[in-house]
Amino acid sequence: MFVADGLTEPQPILSMPGVVQHTRDSLRKAAAEAVDLGVGGLMLYGVPRTEDKDASGSVGIAEDGILNVALRDLFADLGDATVLMADTCLDEFTDHGHCGVLDDQGRVDNDATNARYVELAVAQANSGAHVVAPSGMMDGQVGAIRDGLDDAGRTDVAILAYAAKFASAFYGPFREAVSSSLVGDRRTYQQDPRNAREAIHEIELDIDEGADIVMVKPAMSYLDVVRAAADISPVPVAAYQISGEYSMICAAAANGWIDLQASAVESLIGIRRAGADIVLTYWAADAASWLA
Ligand code: PBG
Repeated sequence: MFVADGLTEPQPILSMPGVVQHTRDSLRKAAAEAVDLGVGGLMLYGVPRTEDKDASGSVGIAEDGILNVALRDLFADLGDATVLMADTCLDEFTDHGHCGVLDDQGRVDNDATNARYVELAVAQANSGAHVVAPSGMMDGQVGAIRDGLDDAGRTDVAILAYAAKFASAFYGPFREAVSSSLVGDRRTYQQDPRNAREAIHEIELDIDEGADIVMVKPAMSYLDVVRAAADISPVPVAAYQISGEYSMICAAAANGWIDLQASAVESLIGIRRAGADIVLTYWAADAASWLA
């Protein structure tokens, strides 16, 4: 779910029919409805005002930053009735749109980024997140965040690691969803779609560093990786049906070429059959009612 600063009413995301950037109030309402429908958890993304973005993503860490404010709202409303998860990444908050901070040559600085992720994770935990979800694919991010949370006394907060995250063309609509400033691509830190072996290495590293859940992303073009992860992982495996996967089914259905509900449910069944214990999907609330 997306929550944006400075909106007076929910703003439709044109490339993701049915998904909106929420206001604080509309998020509270939609979150309560989703929980009533039986959705097991909510993943939140914050969309700050453009003028609040800077090179190091400070508005993600600020107590009055939109994501932290929304977490406090939902924790106040829902408490432990659902699992509140937060995207622990800088791209929504940086003016250059990269998932990390940049060095003097404009490259993403892995270790300086991890230090920022620790600050983000602690801010999110203190705002009510039960789970932090580092999605930036920096080496060592899970270990750094685990240590940082523990040092801050938040041993109770879990880490959902975006462990095998590929540099996918299917993220397109998400860039609109978070009003991304990115120019270029993320191929220096996300994985090469051709490389399945590296995915397993990344998953094993994250488990060693203390990941409580490991995630494969995207889902549909990477079901072999989901299966391979399920076969080796001692912790739950999640799969993320990303924006482009959602939007292309919506688009085909809008053209009358396929049936929306049947196709959406079949896509979710496929991800589950591949071995995912947890599925992140923009259809979560719909699926909860379809499958009830
Ligand atoms: C990074 C992040 C992205 C998504 C989730 N977390 C964007 C990216 O890696 O470019 C994409 C999710 C989607 O496409 O649905 N904070």
